[in-house]
Amino acid sequence: QNEIYNAGLQGILPDYPVDFATLEARAHEALGPMMTNYVAGGCGDEHTQDTNARAFHHWGMIPRMMVDCSERDLSIELFGMTLPSPLFMAPIGLNGEATQDRHGDMAAARASAMTGVPLCVSTLGNDPMEDVFEACGDTPAFFQLYTPRNRELATSLIQRAEKSGAKAIVVTLDTWLTGWRPRDLNASNFPQLRGKVMQNYFTDPVFRSMLDKPPEEDPKAAIFLFAAIFGQVLTWEDMAFFKSVTDLPIVLKGICHAEDVKKAIDHGADAIYCSNHGGRQANGGIATIDLLGDVVEAAGDLPVLFDSGIRSGTDAVKALAMGARAVGVGRPYTYGLAIGGAEGAAWVLRSILAEADLLMAVNGYPSLAAVRGAGVRRTG
Ligand code: FNR
Repeated sequence: QNEIYNAGLQGILPDYPVDFATLEARAHEALGPMMTNYVAGGCGDEHTQDTNARAFHHWGMIPRMMVDCSERDLSIELFGMTLPSPLFMAPIGLNGEATQDRHGDMAAARASAMTGVPLCVSTLGNDPMEDVFEACGDTPAFFQLYTPRNRELATSLIQRAEKSGAKAIVVTLDTWLTGWRPRDLNASNFPQLRGKVMQNYFTDPVFRSMLDKPPEEDPKAAIFLFAAIFGQVLTWEDMAFFKSVTDLPIVLKGICHAEDVKKAIDHGADAIYCSNHGGRQANGGIATIDLLGDVVEAAGDLPVLFDSGIRSGTDAVKALAMGARAVGVGRPYTYGLAIGGAEGAAWVLRSILAEADLLMAVNGYPSLAAVRGAGVRRTG
């Protein structure tokens, strides 16, 4: 993992940024104003979003000495698989638009294949999920579901993912409608993107059967139908439906409250995904890293996935120390896609991993069990 840093010390400097601020600045330039507003934006005055990242600063780790850290093991067990690292790529809708060719989903899948970091494929993709899953190669991938109001269509999306080799269904709970995002309303050409990002719907046999004419002939009607059936308000009773249509593990994304963790366990969830959607849905919230400890405690043996605010390897190690099984990288890898396609996204993931690995080495944590054992301390 240290190749990046060691090469840099020898004067072989990377083509891509190694810190988030530079990455973000370069990505915004590459994305242009409309996509920048979409990716960088959050809801309200973006307080929750800012807090997510800043809150990592008031958690700290204490190093241990005289521990043999010459080899570090960053592998994890998840859904019966051994994965080489604790990172995954969080689901990002419209990733397709992050690259010039508008096939950013395929580039993300190639980055996944290159790094072994699983991709959570979003419902809102520019490319049909079958193609994206295939491009992930041997790296396992997950499917994120925005549950449509039509049960037959929801079943079809889940089962297409299962057939394509998805290893888990990640049901997003916090987005049956979109939060108040001022930047969306200011980015006047945002709606033009919409037709393109519905390929998972447009290629779906159930969705197509609900239209008079195929989406290629009458895109307006297809977009109208998409919008009309996009978001199902979910309650705990819906868990029985998800469990009845797939054998894959069901991961519930958006859970931040210990009582909801208990309910998720009672209703048969296979994993908890602690996230506040990167501050894009509800403003006035609490940074997810500040809630993770409670979620982990309530989850017991159930794996907890985590995202919102991860910007570096150090952030990732802190979340792991607090008990997350796996850590989702969101905006940073989309920025990687923007500045260098698959290679750029792979670079971002490898940099985060390299920093995490080096931190474990100098902190005397040879394994993720040691990281968790060391824990973090609140400093402010
Ligand atoms: C998202 N997120 C998201 N989540 C989801 O379940 N389905 C989706 O399609 C999307 N789309 C999406 C687009 C963009 C541009 C962003 C930034 C985020 C939320 C995502 O999975 C994750 O929770 C956040 O990105 C985490 O916050 P940070 O770390 O990226 O700030």
